[in-house]
Amino acid sequence: MTSPLEIRFQSVELDDIALLEGRVTILATPEGSLDTLARRVNRLTKGAVKRLVESDAWEGMKDGSGHVLSMPVGMAADALQVIRLPKRADIKLARKAGAAIAKFKGHDALTLLAAGHGRAAEISYGLALRAYSFSVHKTDEDSQKVMKPAVIAVNDPEAIAAQAAPLAAITEGVFFTRDLTNEPANVLTTEDFAARLAAMQDLGLDVTILDEPELEKLGMRTLLGVGQGSRSPTKVVVMKWNGGGKEAPFALVGKGVVFDTGGISLKPAGGMEDMTMDMGGAGVVSGVMRALALRKAKANVVGLVGLVENMPDGNAQRPGDVVVSMKGDTVEVINTDAEGRLVLADVMWYAQEEFKPTGMINLATLTGAIIIGLGHHNAGVFSNNDDLCDAFLKAADAEDEGAWRMPMGPKYDKQLESRVADMANVGGRAAGSITAAQFLQRFVKEETPWIHLDIAGVASVKSETDFAPKGATGWGVRALDRLIRDKYEG
Ligand code: BES
Ligand code: MN
Ligand code: ZN
Repeated sequence: MTSPLEIRFQSVELDDIALLEGRVTILATPEGSLDTLARRVNRLTKGAVKRLVESDAWEGMKDGSGHVLSMPVGMAADALQVIRLPKRADIKLARKAGAAIAKFKGHDALTLLAAGHGRAAEISYGLALRAYSFSVHKTDEDSQKVMKPAVIAVNDPEAIAAQAAPLAAITEGVFFTRDLTNEPANVLTTEDFAARLAAMQDLGLDVTILDEPELEKLGMRTLLGVGQGSRSPTKVVVMKWNGGGKEAPFALVGKGVVFDTGGISLKPAGGMEDMTMDMGGAGVVSGVMRALALRKAKANVVGLVGLVENMPDGNAQRPGDVVVSMKGDTVEVINTDAEGRLVLADVMWYAQEEFKPTGMINLATLTGAIIIGLGHHNAGVFSNNDDLCDAFLKAADAEDEGAWRMPMGPKYDKQLESRVADMANVGGRAAGSITAAQFLQRFVKEETPWIHLDIAGVASVKSETDFAPKGATGWGVRALDRLIRDKYEG
């Protein structure tokens, strides 16, 4: 996987600052006050820093952003960045500052002079999250270069390094999600995906893979129907992290459609390549499990992903086919392109039967309609439980991951009626994301607190976000990790 940027925390001698090579970043408050290290830089540059922080340009800058001075006199560095950051910045602002530093750094060596700033660990987190690029398939020399490490000069390196360690674990989870989501479908087949998850055994996760014969035995026909037109075998991967006591686990379930052509209800050609990210829900579940294992979370969590490819073929499922779910309910497949809910129905039911979870959250790039409704800044949140839902929304807000609750209700169920089966898999154009959620709810037991996250708009985007370049964002890994921390480890 793409390795996170190496970040070292160490102390720095004032006399060494003039000799630092590559890029140097210092911090100044909105009012223009400088710490000891920044004051030394100001002296070396014959007052250039003071001139900047007293200028109109500084006045007009946003907190968390930076201004670059090139080839600063009196220093060996190639460029000097001055970040505008209040002394008591909150974590959101500190992380944004880190992201601004990542963009300034690029592949070069960088030293951040953070002295005694209270949010140094959070700055390093923003820096690490933004320092990502998916370049495994680029062969030019520039893309092959490894990023030079970042050094963060702080007064108490050991204490800051200890604060940053769990954040680095989450960064690795986010990168794992992004890599999976960016990976094209000829590389990330169902088998390749399952193998990457099996490799996480080494981190202490218990990973089991259910193959087609076992899925058949379990009666997962809504899942298997989606994959029957593909050369790649359908799989369900179960990842268990037992860091808590004896209590039942919390369950995360992800849609892992490695490619969604639409099947016989074939999608139009324009933009179809984007459907390489249709396993984004499974990607987030996998990234969260990786983060939990790496930071040895004190919680019991089980992650399940349904890995399948939706292809048209002589053996593919047809519109009008009736399939029997593991639960026993029958589904008329009106549209083979509404396949995500068929995948989730069986995996969610299996998760509840097998693990009796204390709660369940599923993630899926489920509907184009959620993009029409919420765009690319918020995921759709659907829930049968206010407490769990509020806790999730709070965690998402704290992590700056957009999430917006959508309504549900029995009135929408009428749209799912089928002439021949217990339900149809589509409910027409009106409220397309809500009827999809209503469909899923039929496979949620009454007593299971549940959230469905429709991440079609946020899993992968066409322009950069605060913490990611364009492409896969890893949306949700941070919020879910925080929810688990708050719920079970707080
Ligand atoms: N994977 C798509 C949803 C999607 C669309 C994800 C755009 C990301 C970007 C899903 O399987 C799908 O095709 N949904 C259909 C449902 C419809 C047939 C009821 C849709 O949204 O058009
Ligand atoms: Mn589809
Ligand atoms: Zn899909």
